[in-house]
Amino acid sequence: MAVDVLLGLQWGDEGKGKIVDVLAPQYDLIARFQGGPNAGHTLEFDGKKFVLNTIPSGIFEKHTMNLIGNGVVIDPIILKKEIDKLKDAGIDLLAKKNLMIARKAHLILPTHQLLDASSEKKMGDSKIGSTLKGIGPTYMDKTGRNGLRVGDIYLPDFKDKYNKLVEKHCSILANYGEIEDFSEREKAFFEAIELLKQFPHVDSEHLVAKYLKEGKKVLAEGAQGTMLDIDFGSYPFVTSSNTTTAGACTGLGIAPNKIGDVIGIFKAYCTRVGGGPFPTELDNEVGEELRKIGHEFGATTGRPRRCGWIDLPALKYAILLNGVTQLVMTKADVLSGFEKIYACTHYKYNGETIDYMPYDISSIKPEPLWEEIDGWNEDLTGIREINEIPEKLQAYIDYLEKELEVPIKYLSVGPDRLQTLVLN
Ligand code: GTP
Repeated sequence: MAVDVLLGLQWGDEGKGKIVDVLAPQYDLIARFQGGPNAGHTLEFDGKKFVLNTIPSGIFEKHTMNLIGNGVVIDPIILKKEIDKLKDAGIDLLAKKNLMIARKAHLILPTHQLLDASSEKKMGDSKIGSTLKGIGPTYMDKTGRNGLRVGDIYLPDFKDKYNKLVEKHCSILANYGEIEDFSEREKAFFEAIELLKQFPHVDSEHLVAKYLKEGKKVLAEGAQGTMLDIDFGSYPFVTSSNTTTAGACTGLGIAPNKIGDVIGIFKAYCTRVGGGPFPTELDNEVGEELRKIGHEFGATTGRPRRCGWIDLPALKYAILLNGVTQLVMTKADVLSGFEKIYACTHYKYNGETIDYMPYDISSIKPEPLWEEIDGWNEDLTGIREINEIPEKLQAYIDYLEKELEVPIKYLSVGPDRLQTLVLN
């Protein structure tokens, strides 16, 4: 057995949550491998809508176990809110016993959030576009070997360790200026830690290995997107973790030769939230229309997403980095009614025509070269069978498969679980 990986191929918000929820019945374990509550995985079914920030998207499936992996950074306060909200909706995770937490996952402290806000403020116009959840500073403490981990909450000197780290943060914050009062958040943090103690804490590497040994199926769930990867994304406008397949290996403790299918998700167009380069951005009324029809506003922050046409050089790069074996195209329904749609096939860059992502897209903007494609008029949201797919959409699918050299296995035509077609 091997672990399948599901991840975003663009700048995040591709609809990973929905697709994990759709695939969950096929898996015994769903494991989040990186990121933190900057993710907002949105799931819709039976007329209900849920947004998950830290909890894996398999939580609604009866027989599936869920794991928050070691590569994830956890804000106990936000996690408690998620758990409480689910309980209010009749889903009691403690009673269902379907959530486990890796002891090696790092904790986001209230002061990590303050550091995030101060750092962004100091950057002024060149700010990264952080979600201000303290994720960057927490990963900095992880690599700086100062971090607190879930397993530490049982140590007799946990409070001392906490105080020591907070003291360090406060000395940095003092350099930025005044330190905001965080006593309320600190109180909430320790209350949430008590709830965290009630969930099983495991070593993700051993848990995943056990599942595989028993012949069970495991899906690693990514957050954000490949173009936000700390190493390969549009640096420095990236997230703080590896969002690629390699991140699933380190974020769960999976040997590379135990990776099975890699399911790459992309939107039928492209979006990006926050600052940073976005070669195919449409800063015009077409972009505005995509935003309006696609409801392109952040699930966690409510920030409007920047919109543009599909970027094939960026997608090909993402497929190469991740070893994608199957594709999922989401939000095809949003393109209904556009007379023409466009795909960026190459960039004009520094006077040359190139078909790859160049090193520096921050200071020199690649100019997209477009393929014009006929749009379709039909409303897709009601289609459930592949023979109902309009001819022109099928032509777009065929074109993308030919360009990307990977089959599109699923097509999503709306936010609901049922609005999903299996193509291949
Ligand atoms: P991040 O980890 O935050 O990047 O999240 P994500 O990839 O799970 O995506 P997110 O839930 O933030 O955004 C996707 C949005 O599109 C959600 O509101 C979904 O309900 C919605 N959605 C997903 N698939 C489709 C689709 O095929 N059509 C339409 N119209 N909406 C969709």
